Amino acid sequence: MQALILAGGQGTRLRPLTLTTPKPALPLAGRPFLTFMLDWLAGHGVDEAILSCGFLAEEVAAVLGDRHGTVRLRYVTEPEPLGTAGPLRLALDQDGLEEQVLVVNGDVLTDIDLGAQLDFHRRAGALATLALVAVEDTSAYGLVPTAPDGEVEGFLEKVDAGASADPAPTDRVNAGAYVLERSVAELVPPGRAVSFEREIFPSLVGKGLFGHLDEGYWIDIGTPERYLEATRDLLTGAVKSSLPPRDATGSLVHPGCRTEGAEVGPLSVLGESCVVEPRARVARSALHRRVTVGARAAVDGAVLADGVSVGEGAHVEPGAVLGKGATVAPQARVEAGARIEPGTEVRLADRRPAADAAPVRVAESRRDG
Ligand code: GTP
Repeated sequence: MQALILAGGQGTRLRPLTLTTPKPALPLAGRPFLTFMLDWLAGHGVDEAILSCGFLAEEVAAVLGDRHGTVRLRYVTEPEPLGTAGPLRLALDQDGLEEQVLVVNGDVLTDIDLGAQLDFHRRAGALATLALVAVEDTSAYGLVPTAPDGEVEGFLEKVDAGASADPAPTDRVNAGAYVLERSVAELVPPGRAVSFEREIFPSLVGKGLFGHLDEGYWIDIGTPERYLEATRDLLTGAVKSSLPPRDATGSLVHPGCRTEGAEVGPLSVLGESCVVEPRARVARSALHRRVTVGARAAVDGAVLADGVSVGEGAHVEPGAVLGKGATVAPQARVEAGARIEPGTEVRLADRRPAADAAPVRVAESRRDG
């Protein structure tokens, strides 16, 4: 079975992480994110994945190579962004496609039963079958109302749904995993950006477009909040994965880390070669590789990209995201929800001596060089 993975978006909502690393290659629980998707696809019989890349395409290829376990990886790189459907047409025109193809958004962590979706698709004689999941807050997603037999009755992209004051007509949303007949790829106009959600699926309503509800785990990791939620769910085992065992705090500390005398956990990830100095605390956070946290510093509910350095006694508050190589001066505070660009320094706004510095009110950020 062939799968096309849409992996060419800029991931703007995950900046500053995605300024230097494309979303598919971002570490999640210490592994390139896309490897979780590839495990899931392999578990459903996929043996070839076409990676549709654009933004930072070379990075994706450098991290994933040409094989993941039993799955052969093939890359189709767009000269310019082709949206969600354009890449399928490009793949068809470049190397051809099998009669049925799975198309998946490259930013979902899920254990949806693709086998059941495929069976449904074949039984219904569908042209396209979308995986649907029910969510509590539908505002960020495309809504897909269906008839009792699963036929899609409408395709309400998130903009339309949000613009209406009426209650949502359904809680079923597009999970970004499609079984498509090859003829759907032939319907996609070549050579320009085309959206499945806005153009192709709405045009297929009433012509063989079906939805298949799945009750499995599903989350798109496209925002920092959901990235952390996915991290937590992997650590607690709420979603199936082949991660190594976690420690007593539910945390995962990768090889080459040094944490003696520090408090790490609960539910944190330390990627390779991180250092957390004595009496520092790291809780509910994701540290990528080679991150250092100085003595008595505290990091809670934050994401720290490769090479971030947090100075002694500094505080990183919940929801903060620090880009690659950012530094936090001793005693400084990174406020809740802050986004710190790669390579910048967060300094103490007020340069009082450390002993006199608490409570520190604000930190300012500056880019070196
Ligand atoms: P945001 O900028 O934060 O919205 O993220 P995004 O760029 O990833 O967009 P979105 O989350 O809507 O995209 C859903 C999926 O489609 C992701 O896996 C993207 O990588 C992928 N995608 C979006 N646009 C393109 C594109 O032009 N080309 C390719 N190949 N993939 C795309």
